[in-house]
Amino acid sequence: MNKLLMTLLGGTVALAAATSASAADSDDGYGISTDFDTVQEGHYLATLGDCAACHTKPGGKPMAGGVALETPFGKLVAPNITPDKATGIGNWNFQQFKSAMTEGKAPVGHLYGAMPYTAYTKVTEKDLRAMWSYLHTVEPVDNDVVANQLPFPFNVRLSLIGWNMINFSKGEFKPNPHKSEEWNRGAYIVEGLGHCGTCHTPKNLIGGDKNSQFLKSSLLENWTVPDITPDDHKGIGEWSKQDLVDYLKDGKNKFDIASGPMAEEVVNSSQYWTEKDLQAVATYLKEGEDGDHQTTPPDPIATDDDRMKSGEHIYADRCAGCHTPDGGGVEGLFPRLANNALMRQDDPTSLIRVVLAGSRAGATDAAPTAPSMPAFSWNMSDEQIANVLTFVRNSWGNSAEAVSPSDVAKLRASLKDD
Ligand code: HEC
Ligand code: HEC
Ligand code: HEC
Repeated sequence: MNKLLMTLLGGTVALAAATSASAADSDDGYGISTDFDTVQEGHYLATLGDCAACHTKPGGKPMAGGVALETPFGKLVAPNITPDKATGIGNWNFQQFKSAMTEGKAPVGHLYGAMPYTAYTKVTEKDLRAMWSYLHTVEPVDNDVVANQLPFPFNVRLSLIGWNMINFSKGEFKPNPHKSEEWNRGAYIVEGLGHCGTCHTPKNLIGGDKNSQFLKSSLLENWTVPDITPDDHKGIGEWSKQDLVDYLKDGKNKFDIASGPMAEEVVNSSQYWTEKDLQAVATYLKEGEDGDHQTTPPDPIATDDDRMKSGEHIYADRCAGCHTPDGGGVEGLFPRLANNALMRQDDPTSLIRVVLAGSRAGATDAAPTAPSMPAFSWNMSDEQIANVLTFVRNSWGNSAEAVSPSDVAKLRASLKDD
């Protein structure tokens, strides 16, 4: 296209000209392709990356921003990334988009890690261009969002230079030549656009990922985010590839029903993945990384322990009606508690939360009616909840540390504040 014409159309021509060298056929100089397949692919990739989870307010216009994210340091609001020129990214060029996505650097300055650029840095140039092109087909929305609502000193973007030095390594995904193409596609999704680690990887004190413990469980808004490495005791070691595919596609399988933030992930993102990508992610999670190893399970707490005896009675009274007396559950309706890695995570926060507050699994296209777990906070004491969970965590093939009444009390208080 004529460069002078581009100047007249507005925008930063110098940069646009520099980027157009490696661009696709129907590229207009800003790196925007109008090719139907590229836009479709970009839409799919944006779904894979679950941009909408943060950039689309429930019931709001796509990508218009406004979703508030609570971080340990205060509130951040996801900005408007529609092609609106005044309040969105309509005046950006591709290099600015790429640098926001892969380096966390935007015209406003350094971005906070709540925008998962630490994962998106793995995304290829081709995929970035497709998403960039797709974003320009979204309806431009006039919505001015103030992203940074953190208190001083956390609101100072320059402080992120130090954060990045400790927590961020930039760079596109590099395939592992010793692994299959399918494994590599799975790794590309999990480490990159899928940003599974932002929830599943444990964090250091300043909120960075502990990459040496990739996917080995974390805590998020009072949900335990479980270990999803191939570990047999705490991870997904006992799941088959098909179990993983079912879970990501339908939000449930014969072991489990996805709740909380994972139910949202399934509803917004993984239910729409292609069969090929579901298989690839399952292959990657099943095989794991080269350094992964099995943990040694602890011995279960003895059945004649007082907490276990009390827990057994409560279970028979209050829980067995749905989860069945042997903890086997009813496939697709009531999750199986027996021999279930979720019961065996070090941190019991989610288990306590589910019993206190109840839970309803997300509804996917494939499984439209979601069963629900009743709340017990109003009719069970801290000690009763601790005991029944200690019993569940140490019965039917499970073993894990006891749950203490003080942990229940703490979470009860914090849920009241919400
Ligand atoms: C977990 C939440 C989350 C997800 C998922 C997410 N973002 Fe963001 N994004 C944010 C937040 C929060 C900011 C603002 C950060 C800041 O101002 O420091 C942001 C900033 C941005 C910016 C910079 C905008 C500006 O005006 O400076 C772009 C571009 C962007 N995101 C694109 C995307 C795309 C594309 C995806 C999907 C592939 C995506 N984001 C997924 C939370 C998210
Ligand atoms: C927004 C946070 C978040 C993101 C992003 C996320 N997860 Fe999860 N995930 C969770 C939580 C929380 C649970 C526990 C759900 C429950 O208790 O029912 C979970 C559970 C799971 C489980 C079930 C494990 C078990 O033992 O029951 C699998 C498998 C899983 N996630 C895979 C993934 C993959 C693959 C990705 C990336 C594509 C991903 N998750 C991204 C929060 C997240
Ligand atoms: C009326 C039926 C019902 C009763 C009674 C019931 N549950 Fe549940 N429970 C469910 C359903 C349905 C879910 C799945 C909800 C979801 O995924 O959001 C669930 C989920 C759970 C989970 C999370 C499992 C997972 O894999 O995510 C735990 C732990 C649990 N229940 C424990 C208990 C305990 C302990 C009791 C007794 C104090 C109990 N439940 C009583 C129906 C019930």
